[in-house]
Amino acid sequence: MVVLGLETSCDETSAAVITADGKLQSNVVLSQHDHARYGGVVPELASRAHIRTVGPVVEQALQEAGCSLDQLDAIAVTHGPGLVGSLLVGVNIAKGLAYSRDLALIGVHHLEGHLYSAGIERPLPPPFVALLVSGGHTELIHVRDHGSYEHLGRTLDDAAGEAFDKVARLLDLLPPDQLVAGGRAVSDAAEAGDPQAVKFPRPLPEKKGLDFSFSGLKTAVRTELIRLGGPGSEGVKARTADMAASFQQAVIDVLVRRACDAVESTGIERLSLVGGVAANRLLRESLCHAMDKIGVEFFTPSSILCTDNAAMIAAAGRHRLLTGERSGWDLDAHPRLALPGLQHE
Ligand code: KG4
Ligand code: ZN
Repeated sequence: MVVLGLETSCDETSAAVITADGKLQSNVVLSQHDHARYGGVVPELASRAHIRTVGPVVEQALQEAGCSLDQLDAIAVTHGPGLVGSLLVGVNIAKGLAYSRDLALIGVHHLEGHLYSAGIERPLPPPFVALLVSGGHTELIHVRDHGSYEHLGRTLDDAAGEAFDKVARLLDLLPPDQLVAGGRAVSDAAEAGDPQAVKFPRPLPEKKGLDFSFSGLKTAVRTELIRLGGPGSEGVKARTADMAASFQQAVIDVLVRRACDAVESTGIERLSLVGGVAANRLLRESLCHAMDKIGVEFFTPSSILCTDNAAMIAAAGRHRLLTGERSGWDLDAHPRLALPGLQHE
């Protein structure tokens, strides 16, 4: 089954081709930079940009894969959650292409895509525990089987990526004309800093055992910023790298600790790190080291497959298609959508 994947849930327009044997042949990701001057993604601009770029992005993905529309068997598309206008572009292009070429169609949940991203370059059979850290989510999920998930823990307030984005803004690390991921900006600044310089808290809410909380950490950064003289002051400029490094270390310590707790409490010996924040080099290295120490096999995809991309959507859709599942022509975009097959702890 040759699958074309489409992802347009936020500000990345992406198309990818996975061949019959499950190999990734192409993965074109186009990030929108028009939002930078507004300080965040503007939904209306995002959907307009998807409309302009989705055609060329699909053409390029097919060209790089060396295949034509006629050689496809199916189209997998993100149908939620996300920005509704952006999702609608992908869903309707997918429906149009599938209808015109008589292809199978499958709607994919964006988070299920992230869960499958770690199994694209290297086989990752269930069961495994996934630490999913993105701009909107911080979750520990027990993947019991294909399409069967159990929630182990989640953030009670900000997602890890959201905390990175807010701290990047607080520390004035974002360029005005280019959309750079906040987490990337913080980790670049942290290279020159001392991770032990500022003693930020390591919040570990005890309520259910495996939950996260990042809003206190973000507040601690703000408090330190004020103590040093406020945004833009010489005091803050002199300590920006140290604050970035110390904040990043605090987030990593919490994520590593909870990942260890999750594999210990489930007894599962495989752990994957996925989602945009998984692109963080120090997090990847620290988690790899921690899992190695306790004899757990560690999986994380290449950085390009951590942030939003269509390869992961094609991979997740392919599994559902192979079980015979299909979406109908009534497939719709859902800004809020529960992960199918998810059971809460
Ligand atoms: O998965 P993703 O591309 O989009 C969502 O589904 O949310 O994740 C985006 C998040 C952003 O918060 C961004 O700041 C974060 O991933 N991110 C990083 C890095 N690159 C992207 N966080 C930490 N370190 C990075 N290198
Ligand atoms: Zn995502």
